[in-house]
Amino acid sequence: MPEESRAVIIIFGGSGDLASRKLYPALFNLYRRGVLAEHFAVIGTARRPWSDEHYHEVVETAIAGLNPEPAQAHAFAQHFFYQSHDVTDADHYITLKNLAAKLDDQFATGGNRVFYMAMAPDFFETIASHLKSEHLLTDVGFNRLIIEKPFGHDYASAKELNDSLTATFDDDQIFRIDHYLGKEMIQNLLAFRFDNTIFEGIWNKKYIDNIQITLAEAVGVEERAGYYEKAGALRDMVQNHVMQVLSYLTMDKPKSFTTNDILAEKDKVFAALKPYDLATAKANFVRAQYVGAEVDGKAVRGYREEEGVAADSQTATFVAGKIMLDMPQWQGVPIYIRTGKRLTRKSTQLTLTFKPVAAPLFGQSADSKPDTLTIYIEPSEGYSLQLNGKALGTGLTIEPDELRYRHDPKAAAAAPEAYERLINNVLEGDQTNFTHWSELSASWHFIDAIQAAWSQEPNMPTYPAATMGPQAAFDLLSRDGREWFWQPHRVQMAD
Ligand SMILES: NC(=O)c1ccc[n+]([C@@H]2O[C@H](COP(=O)([O-])OP(=O)(O)OC[C@H]3O[C@@H](n4cnc5c(N)ncnc54)[C@H](OP(=O)(O)O)[C@@H]3O)[C@@H](O)[C@H]2O)c1
Repeated sequence: MPEESRAVIIIFGGSGDLASRKLYPALFNLYRRGVLAEHFAVIGTARRPWSDEHYHEVVETAIAGLNPEPAQAHAFAQHFFYQSHDVTDADHYITLKNLAAKLDDQFATGGNRVFYMAMAPDFFETIASHLKSEHLLTDVGFNRLIIEKPFGHDYASAKELNDSLTATFDDDQIFRIDHYLGKEMIQNLLAFRFDNTIFEGIWNKKYIDNIQITLAEAVGVEERAGYYEKAGALRDMVQNHVMQVLSYLTMDKPKSFTTNDILAEKDKVFAALKPYDLATAKANFVRAQYVGAEVDGKAVRGYREEEGVAADSQTATFVAGKIMLDMPQWQGVPIYIRTGKRLTRKSTQLTLTFKPVAAPLFGQSADSKPDTLTIYIEPSEGYSLQLNGKALGTGLTIEPDELRYRHDPKAAAAAPEAYERLINNVLEGDQTNFTHWSELSASWHFIDAIQAAWSQEPNMPTYPAATMGPQAAFDLLSRDGREWFWQPHRVQMAD
């Protein structure tokens, strides 16, 4: 049985989409596992005037998909309290403080507080400053802040936000969410890299020709146009998820599996990002926006036809780029990244292509391919290794063979979801799987240079829905004599 956590958890945005779709199910799973038991209470706050009873119904509906025992779902919901609250109104924080103190007594939570900002980012600074001015942080127990992405929209705004949060919270009290870091296979990356003799020695420029990171979505912008129009693929995906994955793939072995040692190695990667100027950014980063196409006999709308999107929108829904690291072990190894909406298939996968053998025994065969290792993050989870072998028969023809492993889908589906792991980490005070200011500031500097280059380009390139992006994304590799390993638009390949 895990140790029970004690806390009053205050969710700003308790009536929102994130709370219902992710947070309440995650909290319920923690309750089922005994991480949360008797000594916790959740205060949901938002403007709409709900009663506690209505809030209980909302919570029970949100967890219905987990097929709970009715009595357990009911008992869980009794830990939830709702307070109608406009976060810009100082008076409400006094009521909130009193309610938190009352629940602290009632549930014996030891003065522990978790503040979860599950609202639009425009409100983060207001909430943080009111938490300080109205003295919502306790003197006994812990105070921890969970903050959702996006963390700023450029370096300057991210710095301003960070300064305002650190005026209220110490850095070790701030848990900046990048939900990719809660994914099973991302957490597995360090184990995979550093607990396998066969990889440890060859994970460097001597053996690796290039690295490819693909985060492909098949869906369009859905209901998120309001946010996405201002963000675009570069800020929405590259600044955070892609950069985090890149650091896990290229960091050196940490001295120990502790937050500080892991962060120290990740920081070296972020510091080594070779910055681009306007000209080199244009040459090494490609953007585009999807346009309508017929997919499986059905018309799919283009981005500019989506609800909430401007008819002349200049927002990129696709990015591909080449990133170089100024680190001795990675000199000259390109890291190609791409991410976008309305691509051929949904898949997050990472491929390392190894250099060819200097003097192959069977000579260079047209059929031999470079060794490649692919790590599948989602929807399937696992690895595959493409190697050269001798084709069956009397001749000595070389052909690629594949060693393939996938987690059992049923077992993978039963494993904790990203938000469950991350909230658990917060309750334990473990910051390993959260982003730190040093990483954020470095990645924003890198991203700002690309954004600045793009803002000089008047025309937004396009790609048809259900393809893998514009031709320029393929040219980016072909001019280096390489190609994308995963090409689902051309051939049926594993994902
Ligand atoms: N949804 C997701 O899957 C997802 C995924 C990743 C990150 N995020 C991030 O999570 C955050 C929340 O997203 P969301 O999708 O849950 O947004 P949402 O559905 O629009 O929810 C916003 C919440 O804020 C409340 N609110 C708005 N103005 C308020 C005010 N002045 N005072 C008090 N409450 C106010 C709303 O309730 P009232 O209208 O009742 O006030 C609602 O509960 C955002 O930062 C988003 O980027 C969301």
